[in-house]
Amino acid sequence: MEIILNIIYLIASIFFIFGIKKLSSPKTARKGNLYASIGMLLAIVATLVDKQVLTYEYIIIGFVIGSAIGALMAIKVPMTGMPQMVGLLNGFGGGASALVATSEFYKVLNNPALTFELSTIISVILSILIGGVTFTGSLIAFGKLQGLVSGKVIKYPGQNAINVILFLLIIAGGTMVVLDNSQETVLLIVLLISLVLGVLLVLPIGGADMPVAISLLNSYSGLAASMTGFVLKNNMLIIAGALVGASGIILTLIMCRGMNRSLMNVLLGGWESAGSGGAAPAAGGEIKGDVKSVDAEEAAMIFDAAQNVIIVPGYGMAVAQAQHAVRDLMNILESKGINVRFAIHPVAGRMPGHMNVLLAEAQVPYDKLFALEDINDDFSNTDVVFVVGANDVVNPAARNDPNSPIYGMPILNVDYAKTVIVNKRSLNVGYAGISNELFFYPNTLMYFGDAKEAINKLVNEIKEL
Ligand code: TAP
Repeated sequence: MEIILNIIYLIASIFFIFGIKKLSSPKTARKGNLYASIGMLLAIVATLVDKQVLTYEYIIIGFVIGSAIGALMAIKVPMTGMPQMVGLLNGFGGGASALVATSEFYKVLNNPALTFELSTIISVILSILIGGVTFTGSLIAFGKLQGLVSGKVIKYPGQNAINVILFLLIIAGGTMVVLDNSQETVLLIVLLISLVLGVLLVLPIGGADMPVAISLLNSYSGLAASMTGFVLKNNMLIIAGALVGASGIILTLIMCRGMNRSLMNVLLGGWESAGSGGAAPAAGGEIKGDVKSVDAEEAAMIFDAAQNVIIVPGYGMAVAQAQHAVRDLMNILESKGINVRFAIHPVAGRMPGHMNVLLAEAQVPYDKLFALEDINDDFSNTDVVFVVGANDVVNPAARNDPNSPIYGMPILNVDYAKTVIVNKRSLNVGYAGISNELFFYPNTLMYFGDAKEAINKLVNEIKEL
């Protein structure tokens, strides 16, 4: 039976690995989800028929309640609420791991016939530590994104020192429990401090930086599950947890690199959010020069004369929910024989894949979406680049100005195109809180207005030409 169980777990793991592989491209992502679901189904069924399950009542009750809540949330939550929903689910995963590890501790404590192996009790402590931090950290992340907790950067004196002291206390308490497995109170204190640490690590982080924190917490929840796998001696949980842990950390790294930040800066928590996510009042800043603007009619004529157009979406497109208008623009331009493509920066918007998801929702075909490295060389051969609510990801200061906070960040080289039309409401800064010299370039034309309204107007003008 044991061997059959492990073979099924192995097959489920292979489904997980292929599922993750397929998730790496929007084209194959649905299939990836299906593969991962099949893997999960196999793992659940195999675990349920395992002889260790003594009674099914509680499992069925949990399954029915959990599924009902999960289904309701999935239906109700809008696309824009996805980051906090993912955050919440990570938290529950971490919390579950900490609870399972704690209950295993009590199982052994209350049964004199049982003892812990050294590796198992260490896994119990790690599971409680990582799971506890993930649980409360994720709840705070959820609260910040949902507006229940202040999204501001919260700093207080001795912040990092307090976190280090708490961490050392956990290590000390954990060591005591490892040396003497009957230290119930110490174990509960370790759990409590882990919960407090989760709050303190995430509380200082600005609301706009939450996507990075959530990706990191996602990785933590995987590590916690993996530790619980060691506690329960369940190979499936070890593998699945390790996959989540590794893929979460890779995603975090990709996000950090896209923003030109170090992982250490993120790991320590409490890094300053540079800007205010598009709401900063500062206009053009210190950059001086002429800004040329166009109205819908002039912009329509420029598009009409183009052969190649690249559209660059950014956070403003998401705010304005302009993805459908952008799709209409693509359709009308294509109906005139103009080649239209989309350039997607890895950290455009506020969450991984933000632009891909919105454009997919508007039925823009996947093969029109190009990643930075696949399209950056093409801007110099492009007649018109249309920047829709993007700012930092097209700021040439990242290439030109060593003093800029975003210097070194990879950007879309839109300024190399013949003409750049930038749509946003003003000259205001974006997330990084810095002015954009692109708006003052001779080949740039500003098309001011809310993205949805402005693009609808533009489409109507193009229709009338
Ligand atoms: P931003 O640099 O944030 O700029 C967005 C621009 O959209 C703003 O300057 C704003 O200008 C404009 N805007 C706001 N509402 C609009 C509306 N209704 N219609 C038209 N325009 C509107 O955006 P980006 O270029 O996408 O860059 C993303 C930034 O977020 C990067 O700095 C990145 O590092 C950071 N970030 C990304 C992520 C992920 S994973 N994507 C996670 C955390 C942080 P106006 O006010 O003038 O309209």
